[in-house]
Amino acid sequence: MNTLNHLAIIMDGNGRWAKQNKLPRTAGHYKGVEVLRNITIYANKLGIKCLTVYAFSTENWKRSADEVNYIMSLPKIFFASYIKELMENNVRVMIIGDREKIPSETMKVIDDAINTTKNNTGLILNFAFNYGSRDEIVRAAKKYAQDYKDGKVNDLSEESFADYLYTSGLPEVDLLIRTGSEMRLSNFLLYQLAYSEFVVIDTLWPDFTNDVLDSCIAEYMGRKRNFGGRDETKNN
Ligand code: FPP
Repeated sequence: MNTLNHLAIIMDGNGRWAKQNKLPRTAGHYKGVEVLRNITIYANKLGIKCLTVYAFSTENWKRSADEVNYIMSLPKIFFASYIKELMENNVRVMIIGDREKIPSETMKVIDDAINTTKNNTGLILNFAFNYGSRDEIVRAAKKYAQDYKDGKVNDLSEESFADYLYTSGLPEVDLLIRTGSEMRLSNFLLYQLAYSEFVVIDTLWPDFTNDVLDSCIAEYMGRKRNFGGRDETKNN
């Protein structure tokens, strides 16, 4: 039986869902927020320790100003509706990504949620927001180089480098789910996903339900993880 401490999700397909339903793209993102609330509560009930969701990438700034502005308003919509419930469910909010470019009003709403939930001990709901993995790795390398120059560190290992990443302190990612059928990582957690299991499904994020999560987890549980070692059950 595989353990599932850290689940990461690329929540893709909001735009396609909106198109299918003859709605503006923003309606897809709005529905996506409700789905995220459901999945957060359910993942917490399942005992998952950390849920990292790709909410906005460093490449998403290329979208129309209207869409970007709308996505920047989603944290306000999400926390205004659900902070009480997150508290009742002992959920802690965190963020990974480059805070600098995020509008200050949006950052304030996120920081308020981080502060309000900081002593909660249940699921960590970790938003990848203005997140890009290459950017994260380059920042980490620069920070390490500075610490080396300052004489604070003198050696580097896979584990100590991981401490320079935004995800420092979080458990290893066990499972990555990507909705909306695209077979790519889109600059998400490139270092952290080295030995994670991937499940890519056709379901669009706004149609994602607890049952769909159950079936992804069932698939994951059936996988034989050998972290690069030999699979003894295979006769080769
Ligand atoms: C990808 O779908 C989705 C996004 C870029 C935004 C995801 C954000 C949420 C689901 C809500 C996050 C919640 C908070 C509180 C920040 P897409 O637009 O690329 O879909 P498409 O591939 O069908 O066009």
